[in-house]
Amino acid sequence: MQKIQTVGGRRLEGDVRLSGSKNACLAILAATVLPQKGRTVLTNVPRISDVLTLLALLRHLGIPADFTEPGVVSIDASSPTSYEAPYELIKMMRASFSVLGPLLARFGQARVALPGGCDIGARPVDYHLKGLERLGATTTVEHGFVHAVAPNGLRGAGIYLDFPSVGATTHLMSAAALADGITTISNAAEEPDVVATANILNRMGAKIRGAGTKEIVIEGVEALHGTEFRVDADRIEAGTFAVAAAITGGDLYIRDAVKEHVQPVTRKLAEAGVEVRFDDDGVRVRVPHGVALKAVNISASPHPGFPTDMQPPFAALMTLALGTSVITETVYERRFRYIDELSRMGADIKAEASAAIICGVPRLTGAPVAGSDLRATAALVLAGLAAEGRTDISGIQFLDRGYEGFETKLRAVGANIQRVDYADEIATELPLTSELSLARAAGVSA
Ligand code: EPZ
Repeated sequence: MQKIQTVGGRRLEGDVRLSGSKNACLAILAATVLPQKGRTVLTNVPRISDVLTLLALLRHLGIPADFTEPGVVSIDASSPTSYEAPYELIKMMRASFSVLGPLLARFGQARVALPGGCDIGARPVDYHLKGLERLGATTTVEHGFVHAVAPNGLRGAGIYLDFPSVGATTHLMSAAALADGITTISNAAEEPDVVATANILNRMGAKIRGAGTKEIVIEGVEALHGTEFRVDADRIEAGTFAVAAAITGGDLYIRDAVKEHVQPVTRKLAEAGVEVRFDDDGVRVRVPHGVALKAVNISASPHPGFPTDMQPPFAALMTLALGTSVITETVYERRFRYIDELSRMGADIKAEASAAIICGVPRLTGAPVAGSDLRATAALVLAGLAAEGRTDISGIQFLDRGYEGFETKLRAVGANIQRVDYADEIATELPLTSELSLARAAGVSA
């Protein structure tokens, strides 16, 4: 077993280079099923487990897909051999579900396992299925799989999303690229990941306009071809490192950060008293000497609002800010699991309905804590960078899904952080009593 171990109290200083955007990459990789001819080469791709999972799924479909060198991925979808995506791969990573529409557009049918929920919410796919049906598909759900058929191909249609879902927007935009006729997606997500997906699709020969706004128009084409595309830097990684600078009273230059992508976060950091300066190559984030950060309120909401993925890391920062912060979550129904863990470090934080109420405290103390999903685990690492003493954070498998070399990058700018192996004490030292073994087997704490 592995965990992250930090000893807090160090100011972070120096340069951090961002990796490519996980979420843009995953939407783009699903879309690379579409080109009937030619290779697609992606650059600035992060080597993280979610990307490796999706590459494995593409290969399972008979599509050669892999890293050819660090940061560079090559995919050739000219002759896929299957339109079935197995549960073993889909359950590992929800975004894999978005191969459904492209497979349907290529084969006239597809069979993809339903993704499970996760720790932050039920995460249904009803918008995806309703949208594909609007495009002329018939979908049936049985035995945990979606079987979609469109024997006469997909046809353009008007689609309205009840919620500006990022995944549904990129998924349906990709499927509609090969539909016969015009598709409009209304109440579309406006995230940079949507814009990136539209950009690569247009380089493949698609005709998409309006990406980044609430109304996207896709004029279907006969066929798409491979292309080359560089993935933008990860805006959530940028926000995470900006908070790392803020929570340690440090001074970081975050290279490759894209200003309009990260401003929803840096604006709130500036409101709290952090100094933020953009230039053509990135952004400098520092806490002026002697400045105590102030509590600010945030409402995690669809872009251009404050990104929900930065809600847990920002909450970690607010535990040490002066005053009371109210953090509202409007995207997911249960993204506050990390609160109990921050409380163990001395934070004064409680969840009420869809908000976290945080009263700043003068210090946090290190403790063993458990990460429950990618961004919650990142939040606990950030708290560990500021807490007095040692913090052991389990859940490293979550971090590896979305941050490339997270602790290496933090150590390079002064953090006392390492990845350590450890035996699960309970399993090795104490003979498991029958109750304990039964409880552990059921995955509950005894
Ligand atoms: C993407 O997830 C991101 N993941 C998430 O990042 C991010 O939190 C989310 O967008 C919102 O920005 C990837 O891009 C791989 P949604 P996605 O569809 O597309 C509900 C991270 O930490 N919904 O915008 O799955 C859904 O339950 C991850 O990097 C439906 O009800 O998110 C949620 O409450 C976590 N029915 C809300 O909409 C649907 O058919 C937003 O979900 C689809 C979504």
